[in-house]
Amino acid sequence: MAEPQLLEIRGLEKSFPGVRALQGVDFTVRRGEVHALMGENGAGKSTLIKALTGVYDRDGGDSRLDGQSIRPGSPREAEALGISTVYQEVNLIPHLSVAENICLGRQPSAFGFLKWGAIHRRAERALARLDLTLDVSRQLSSFSIAIQQMVALARALDVDAKLLILDEPTSSLDENEVAELFKVMRKLRTEGLGIVFVTHFLDQVYSVTDRITVLRNGKHVGEYATTELPRLELVARMIGKDVSEVEKMNHPPADAAAPPAAAAPFLEVANFGRKGSIYPLDLSVKPGEVVGLAGLLGSGRTEIARLIFGVDRADSGVLKIDGQTVTINNPRDALKQRIAFTAEDRKVDGIIPNLSIRENIVLALQASRGPWARIGRAEQNALADRFIKALGVKTPGPEQLIKNLSGGNQQKVLLGRWLATEPKLFILDEPTRGIDVGAKAEIEKLIASLRKQGLAILFISSELEEVVRDSQRVIILRDRRKVGELAAEQISEQAIMQMIAAPTGESQAVLHPSS
Ligand SMILES: Nc1ncnc2c1ncn2[C@@H]1O[C@H](COP(=O)(O)OP(=O)(O)O)[C@@H](O)[C@H]1O
Ligand SMILES: [Mg+2]
Repeated sequence: MAEPQLLEIRGLEKSFPGVRALQGVDFTVRRGEVHALMGENGAGKSTLIKALTGVYDRDGGDSRLDGQSIRPGSPREAEALGISTVYQEVNLIPHLSVAENICLGRQPSAFGFLKWGAIHRRAERALARLDLTLDVSRQLSSFSIAIQQMVALARALDVDAKLLILDEPTSSLDENEVAELFKVMRKLRTEGLGIVFVTHFLDQVYSVTDRITVLRNGKHVGEYATTELPRLELVARMIGKDVSEVEKMNHPPADAAAPPAAAAPFLEVANFGRKGSIYPLDLSVKPGEVVGLAGLLGSGRTEIARLIFGVDRADSGVLKIDGQTVTINNPRDALKQRIAFTAEDRKVDGIIPNLSIRENIVLALQASRGPWARIGRAEQNALADRFIKALGVKTPGPEQLIKNLSGGNQQKVLLGRWLATEPKLFILDEPTRGIDVGAKAEIEKLIASLRKQGLAILFISSELEEVVRDSQRVIILRDRRKVGELAAEQISEQAIMQMIAAPTGESQAVLHPSS
């Protein structure tokens, strides 16, 4: 019989209220390999790790380590079994020494007294395994984040770890620090450890991992040898596409209503960004133009929308409206500039469930006029009637509570709410998410018709085919940077995915619009 795998997970199930975060997921790790666990934000990676290591109790499924069935009730129990985890946030204690942090909770002691000499030697040994020499009596907080992460790693290895899990450990590291970490990972691999590596940087996946497991929406998509899975295929699997399908689809022929190339942009931002949120970028939207923002979940699309609308404040760059530099400090300022924004989560940022359609529609207009300028009932009724008709909201009447409508109809009411402010720029963040196919088609039609009426539209969608169908230009984001831009006939699902998948530094120059 073949030797059992180091880790074998079968049919793992975990639900949170309203979300089936893991749906029968399989996952296997061998000794002496670095295994990438991939998937867009929300795919279930962290939940898988937490359900494996006893942070959460699982709802179902089986996990085996070295062929033995295991079900740790806490991370401490998981560690005792040989599974150690290092998270993105260093969860050590800043004001304790390096040595205390490494040995915390496992200090050698004699008759109740800590043996400091032994603690220090043990910490030094653990660090030496990572080729690191530090003064272990110094406070942890006196070291850089990179070193703190190494200390967390040393702590993870101080127990007899067989399986090391790294959940996005590189997010706050610079290039050299990442290189150091990879050196250590390669060394540990030769010692026979199995390493699970979660990252959203594709470059890192291709530089350090042997195999890849892809999750999507809580489901196992597949397992691949890294060398046999081209980057484009990996991106396709993560967003639920099939590359061979995608190659056939192209952008519809440029239509006559596209804005003239010479038209002046309504919105223009340059070097516009916010530390920790989105790297500085340039972007413009003309009247009569839909500009799509494409990228994996978590690539920075929503962050851009929030900066432009003043939900968050930019800390670099300029923003111009109709050629004039303006400052947008909050959504009220954005409204004054005739900008509208429907947020991606209707339930959180959008509908007020216990208000009527009419009341939901007048909200943004009320906000833009200020609290003292009441909108009379006759005007409210007129607005509600107008948008129910214009947007085809299916309802017995304007006094219906919005919570009684279908998702698609709620979305139409939200669009109506913003259209009532007569915007010139409409930022739509996932306007078709979670609504049925028919309603999606209607929303797409509406976007096209608003564009033809001269609105500038910034359109965010995870559905690549929508972005391709509806946009005159597409801006591609990866890891919170703009990595490219496509215009007109250049726009295709294939081209977008290629830019998302391209190695860092190779995509900027390709396929820039000629204008
Ligand atoms: N503690 C929690 N409570 C409720 N929902 C959660 C919790 N943790 C994760 N989720 C949900 O489970 C899904 C998977 O999340 P997560 O495992 O964090 O994804 P990933 O690590 O791949 O980004 C998401 O829909 C997320 O919102
Ligand atoms: Mg995660």
